[in-house]
Amino acid sequence: YGEPVTGGAETNMLTIAHRGASGYAPENTKASFDKALEIGTDWIEFDVQRSRDGELVIIHDTSVDRTTNGSGEVRDLNAADLKKLDAGSWFSPEFKGEGIMTFSEVLERYNGKAGMLIELKSPSLYPGIEQQVADELAKYPLADKVVQSFEQDSMKKMHRILPFIKIGVLMKYRPLGISGRQLEEISNYASFVNPNKKLVNRGLVQRIHALGMKITPYTVRDRASAAFLKSMEVDGMVTDFPDYVNEIK
Ligand code: G3P
Ligand code: CA
Repeated sequence: YGEPVTGGAETNMLTIAHRGASGYAPENTKASFDKALEIGTDWIEFDVQRSRDGELVIIHDTSVDRTTNGSGEVRDLNAADLKKLDAGSWFSPEFKGEGIMTFSEVLERYNGKAGMLIELKSPSLYPGIEQQVADELAKYPLADKVVQSFEQDSMKKMHRILPFIKIGVLMKYRPLGISGRQLEEISNYASFVNPNKKLVNRGLVQRIHALGMKITPYTVRDRASAAFLKSMEVDGMVTDFPDYVNEIK
C-alpha cells in the first residue's frame, strides 16, 4: 500500500496567488506571476480590463495611477501607451521596467503551468468584455480556469456565453452576511462563491457546499488567517503570500 500516511490527511485546498505573489513582487506583472510559480501555487489570480483600442490588459485599479508611472483611466489609454508604462518601480526599484501584460500574454505564458482565477474588474465599464474574454478562453483548456467578478450580471452573461467555464461570484464584506436566497440564486450560474475572508464561518462554508459550489475566500496576508480559513474547510484561499498557505497544506 506504499508509504504510511503521516501528518494528517492530504488536502486539495488550493493556493491561489492574488495578483501573483503580490507580497513579493509588483501585482499583476510577469514578475509576480513568475514568483508565484517559483514559490509554488495551484492557481494565479489576476484582473482583466480593456484599453481604449480594445486590448484586454491585466491591471487592478481602473486608473493606472497607483501601480504605474503614468496617469489616467485604463479605458482612456491605448494598448501601446499602456505597454510603455513602468508597472514595477512603485513596488521597488529592482522591478523597474516591469510592464503591464495583456490577457493573451498571460494565457500563453501560464496556461498549463498554473490554474487561473480570472477576475473581470468593473466589467460594466467595458461593454462586451465577456464575449471578448470568452473568445480568448475558447483557445485553451477550461478545466483549470474560473472567471469571477463582483458584478453578478456580468457573471450571468459570462455563463450564458461560455457555459463550459466555471464562474465565481465575489462578495464584499457586509455585516449581515450572505442570505440563503442569494446563495441559491448564485448557484444557478456559478460554481464558486468567493467572499471577503471576514464573512467566512462554518455555516457559510456548509451552505455553499450544500448547494454544490466551492468557496475560495480573499485575501490572506498573514499566517493566522490562513490557519483560520483552513480550519473552516474552505476549498482554497487567495493570498499575497502563497508560501503561507503552502506551509499549512
Ligand atoms: O480574488 C479575490 C480578490 O482578487 C478580489 O479583490 O480587489 O483584490 O480584486 P481585489
Ligand atoms: Ca482581483
